[in-house]
Amino acid sequence: MDRADLDFPNLPFAFHHTDANVRYWFRDGAWSAGELTSDEYIPLHMAAVCLHYGQAIFEGLKAYERPDGQVQMFRVGENANRLQRSARKLLMEPVPEEIFREAVHKVVHANRRFVPPHGSGASLYVRPFEIGSGPEVGVKPSTEYLFVVFVTPVGPYYKSGLTPVRLRVEEEIHRAAPGGVGDVKAAGNYAASMRATVAARAEGYTEVLYLDAARGTYIDESGSSNFFAIKGDTFITPASPSILASITNMSVQQLARDMGLKVEQRPVSVDELGDFDEAGALGTAAIISPVESVTYQGVEHIYCTGGTAGPTVTALYERLLAIQTGEADDVYGWTEVVPEA
Ligand code: PLP
Ligand code: COI
Repeated sequence: MDRADLDFPNLPFAFHHTDANVRYWFRDGAWSAGELTSDEYIPLHMAAVCLHYGQAIFEGLKAYERPDGQVQMFRVGENANRLQRSARKLLMEPVPEEIFREAVHKVVHANRRFVPPHGSGASLYVRPFEIGSGPEVGVKPSTEYLFVVFVTPVGPYYKSGLTPVRLRVEEEIHRAAPGGVGDVKAAGNYAASMRATVAARAEGYTEVLYLDAARGTYIDESGSSNFFAIKGDTFITPASPSILASITNMSVQQLARDMGLKVEQRPVSVDELGDFDEAGALGTAAIISPVESVTYQGVEHIYCTGGTAGPTVTALYERLLAIQTGEADDVYGWTEVVPEA
């Protein structure tokens, strides 16, 4: 393999041109075969439902090169299931799990030279998405769909490695409400969250922490990751009907239990911010990002100092990354090797 000539240890989390993406069309009640192409543009009707009425959903997962040179992916089946849940909620055609798995394997294999070398700290980010592509003017579900998977080599979402992030509690803007679509990966949720994130960045914060839309007193999540905190020997993470069920969070809860921590997934009041010893953000892109501080009503609650993550957040991060990168045996059956052909 002739590896792509990239500065892998210093990659940003951004789109980078690769060799191929794969597409499947749902037309006349059936999915087409997967078509690999180097074309980065998609043909789209101007009245496509995705453009006007938001039938657009996506996923994110990562491929890592293991020490033995094989490429492995993390919890592909969980991402396939979540894309199906998102599809059902937006009355879109669910992509069968076999097609999802075939598509991600095909596109990672076709872009093998872009998989960052083991130990570089980077990964190949895999972005499956589905859109309602059929033309409609009345508000109704599309009868045609396009499912695409592309990849891009990336570094961590928030700065490099275990660099702590600063969050601000968002009291004015909500990204999602109970009964809405915040619990699935609908593209519109991200449009709804941009003005809060952009404003917080301008104030020097990394991201916001949303509160529940119904009462405004419980912590939901950030715009691109779930939130957790450590208090003594307990891992605490919010339960809420309007947050995305993070696959990283689900996995880290298991790791926490196996490290001897208690796990509480429950409504977490914003008034508890002063009680935590450590905190972190969880997600495919974020991995586990230590939270340095959360600012609420002008008070900055600090969870780590000197740019160094606390011991429990560090231990969870190291354990998770060792499994994802193939450094440690995967006793959970979470990873799968991308077939050679
Ligand atoms: N919450 C939001 C809003 C997200 O966009 C993501 C990213 O996918 C997550 C949480 C983390 O989910 P996961 O761990 O499945 O990537
Ligand atoms: C992910 O973690 O995969 C995400 O989708 C987060 C963000 C880049 C939208």
